[in-house]
Order: sequence, then structure tokens, then C-alpha cells
Amino acid sequence: MLVRHADAERDAAACLDIYARYVDDSPVSFEEQTPSLAEFTQRIQRLTRTHAFLVAEDDGRIAGYAYSGPHRDRPAYRWATEATVYIDPDYHRRGLGRALYVPLFELLERQGYRSVLAGITVPNDGSVGLHRALGFEEVGIYRRIGWKAGAWRDVLWMSKQLGPDTHELQSPASPGAPVHLTQPIEF
Ligand SMILES: CC(C)(COP(=O)(O)OP(=O)(O)OC[C@H]1O[C@@H](n2cnc3c(N)ncnc32)[C@H](O)[C@@H]1OP(=O)(O)O)[C@@H](O)C(=O)NCCC(=O)NCCS
Repeated sequence: MLVRHADAERDAAACLDIYARYVDDSPVSFEEQTPSLAEFTQRIQRLTRTHAFLVAEDDGRIAGYAYSGPHRDRPAYRWATEATVYIDPDYHRRGLGRALYVPLFELLERQGYRSVLAGITVPNDGSVGLHRALGFEEVGIYRRIGWKAGAWRDVLWMSKQLGPDTHELQSPASPGAPVHLTQPIEF
């Protein structure tokens, strides 16, 4: 098994295959229609230009992926990023979520991000458990914030600090260009 950066052209179809089951009739994603392959490919390309998109590969098969993107647009939010992870059900609870998230957060921290957030439709024991295990703390719950799969859904926001917890008197450097793994990580 290895973790590497996604290649949009090569990996989009397999990632979309994993994602699609969480769009159709599932509250996990608030998207209502599975994106086309072209759209999903563009998403990977777009995210890769500013953040990071990693995949876990098992002997040539994509078993999961994790990425980060912008949290909010207003400039003072520029040190905050949002992360998401999807693992093929065949591979749940085998350490892939952790294996993707740990290097993802290291890259984001080196890039200059100071916090990473995750919005989780609850209940979702797996996602809440993973984020807690990686040091995320609960921020709060948006109650009945979205209607998906036949019901109002609550979204739990969790966050994790990246980098030093300092008391700067001037704004830190803005996040720079994406940082890349020097080579795939085997695990
Ligand atoms: C949530 C998800 C990404 C977790 O990935 P995973 O590869 O199964 O997680 P890992 O094996 O790396 O687990 C790491 C830790 O997270 C926690 N965890 C993972 N799954 C859990 C579960 N079902 N219940 C409680 N804790 C869980 C545990 O602390 C675990 O460590 P341990 O196995 O040593 O106890 C996976 O279940 C998934 O893809 N779910 C569907 C999509 C989804 O909900 N994505 C998140 C959107 S916000």
C-alpha cells in the first residue's frame, strides 16, 4: 500500500467511484448529483494547484483519497483549510484514513496553513472517530442545516491547529505554493 499525490487524469475515475456511493441517497456528502468524470477531474486539478490531493493505492487499485481545499473566501481566513477523506468500504478500519491524513496535514502545515477544519454530517462514528484520533476538537454543530436523503441533517464542525500556537503581533506569512511529498509513502 502506498500514499502518493493524485494524478487527475489517471485517478479521477477511481476516486469518483468511491465518492459516488456517498452522494446518492447518503447524508455523508451534501452534493445531490454525482459529478461527471470531467468535473471531478477538474476538481482534482483545481485543488492540486492550491492545496493537496492524496490517494492510497493498493497494488494499483485506488483504495481511498483525502484532500484539502479552501475554508472561506474572505482574506483573513486564508490560513484555514478544510479537509475531507473517503475510503473504499472494502478497506475501512485498516489505517488508510490515518495514513492519508497524517501526511496531508504535514504538507498543509509546511505550506503555511494554521488550522484545518472538517464538516461532518452526524451521526458518522467513523469520521468523528478518525478526526478525534488525529487531534481534532469539536467546534460546534450546525443543527438541521441541510436536507439530504429524506431528512434534515446536522453537521458537526471539528478543527485542528496546525503549526505553532504563538501570539504573533504581526500577520504570519500567507500560505505559499503547495508542498509535495518527495516520494510516495509506503505503509
Ligand atoms: C471515516 C473514514 C474515512 C475512516 O477511514 P478508515 O481508513 O476506516 O480509518 P482508520 O482505519 O485510518 O482509523 C483510524 C482511527 O480512526 C478511528 N475510527 C475509524 N473508524 C472508526 C469507527 N467506525 N468508529 C470509531 N472510530 C473509528 C479509530 O480511532 C481508528 O483507530 P484504530 O483503528 O486504531 O482504533 C471511513 O470510514 C470512510 O471513508 N467513511 C465513509 C466516508 C466518510 O464518512 N468520509 C468522511 C466525510 S466527513
